[in-house]
Amino acid sequence: MQNTTRFIATSLITLTVFTSKPILNAHGQSGDPLVFKPVLADLKLLKAANIPILYKDEETQVGYAVLNHAAENALSEMAHAVGRCGNFEALDEMPRDLISVREQLQALNTYNKRNQILSFSQVGEMAERTEITEALEQLDANKIRNTVEFLSSFPTRYNRGANPNSHIQPFMDRLAEIAKQANYPIHIETIDHKSTPQKSIKLTIQGSTRPSEIIVLGGHLDSISGFMGMGGKAPGADDNASGSSALTEALRVLTLQPQPERTIEFYWYAGEESGLLGSAEIAKQAKADNKDIIAVLQLDMTMFPGDGVLKVASMTDFTSRWLRDYLVAANDTYFHATIQEDKCGYGCSDHASWYRQGFPTLFPTESKFASSFQDIHTAKDVISPVMSFEHAKFFSKVALTMAMDLGNSEQRQPY
Ligand code: BES
Ligand code: ZN
Repeated sequence: MQNTTRFIATSLITLTVFTSKPILNAHGQSGDPLVFKPVLADLKLLKAANIPILYKDEETQVGYAVLNHAAENALSEMAHAVGRCGNFEALDEMPRDLISVREQLQALNTYNKRNQILSFSQVGEMAERTEITEALEQLDANKIRNTVEFLSSFPTRYNRGANPNSHIQPFMDRLAEIAKQANYPIHIETIDHKSTPQKSIKLTIQGSTRPSEIIVLGGHLDSISGFMGMGGKAPGADDNASGSSALTEALRVLTLQPQPERTIEFYWYAGEESGLLGSAEIAKQAKADNKDIIAVLQLDMTMFPGDGVLKVASMTDFTSRWLRDYLVAANDTYFHATIQEDKCGYGCSDHASWYRQGFPTLFPTESKFASSFQDIHTAKDVISPVMSFEHAKFFSKVALTMAMDLGNSEQRQPY
């Protein structure tokens, strides 16, 4: 209550100060509301461009201002000067008052605020490369089915089970078989964790010319049934043999292509179901090692077409706007599916581990959260006629395109 009062008081003071500035006077005179743009922008940029800040959020370093034409030019010039073109966002309509501005900022969750507001995306149309179109045609839905069958036939892949690594070596043997196809060396290893006895799997395709630039493609390999794994059998077919298998199929086709310029790292994470355990350690280490990670793709739940076959979702929380735009561009050029934006509302999968460490992420998934498969984390998460491997293939396409397009380009954008 006290805070609110203080906020209103400060707002009024700010507003009074602001009203005396020429921008608002001009507003009154011109009578053309289009001349004035309410924006949310980086605080430093606003200050550098000498633009009066009407409301600021210290936590995210985002400020609210109303721009006239000159101010807009100044801000845009300043943004260009520091290489952050367009690093501000126009609000759709003039906010009623500063309280509604604050509400808009607070409505966004902490991790996402800056990203939702400020991430600037310069993703244009994606030029088609015939080698990618041809590679995408080689993806085989039946091979995804086969891998899902294999993984979901283990009684459980629970990270706190009696034998949390029973599936690891058999699955790595299959990966090794696929890796043999490549005409360059592929490295496969397990990663030990502090937080779980289960191991993650990492497969590395070293970049031919820019090996320090990394594209991460991952999904969790573990499963769970019931609270703390007490539900017994955990086939985890959709959650997440389906994402793991879509990745594996992308890998198979990728190994038939020329070695990419950038490094492609595949991960099958441990212990996601107990709190993103494997990915949290891996992402933390990547940050500590100052790894140059261009993009992180997460595949989790890919084969239940809850909104219809080839009607998928792209999660907006804990993900980067430029990669979501990249997905839309790739879809226009190559996939022709329907993509709907949605949210989990919490850090629901391993992409959140990477995002928390400051790496750009993308999380496309089978459907909107509400229409996703309801029998996950039970013995009923099995292959059945409601599942679609054509649907799952969409996600292999995303992974393969990121490896072949981003993996052979100079493209990069901040978090
Ligand atoms: N695959 C789910 C997350 C999910 C559910 C994504 C529905 C899309 C639609 C994931 O394996 C999971 O179960 N996550 C946990 C959270 C985690 C931090 C333990 C969850 O959602 O409860
Ligand atoms: Zn799960």
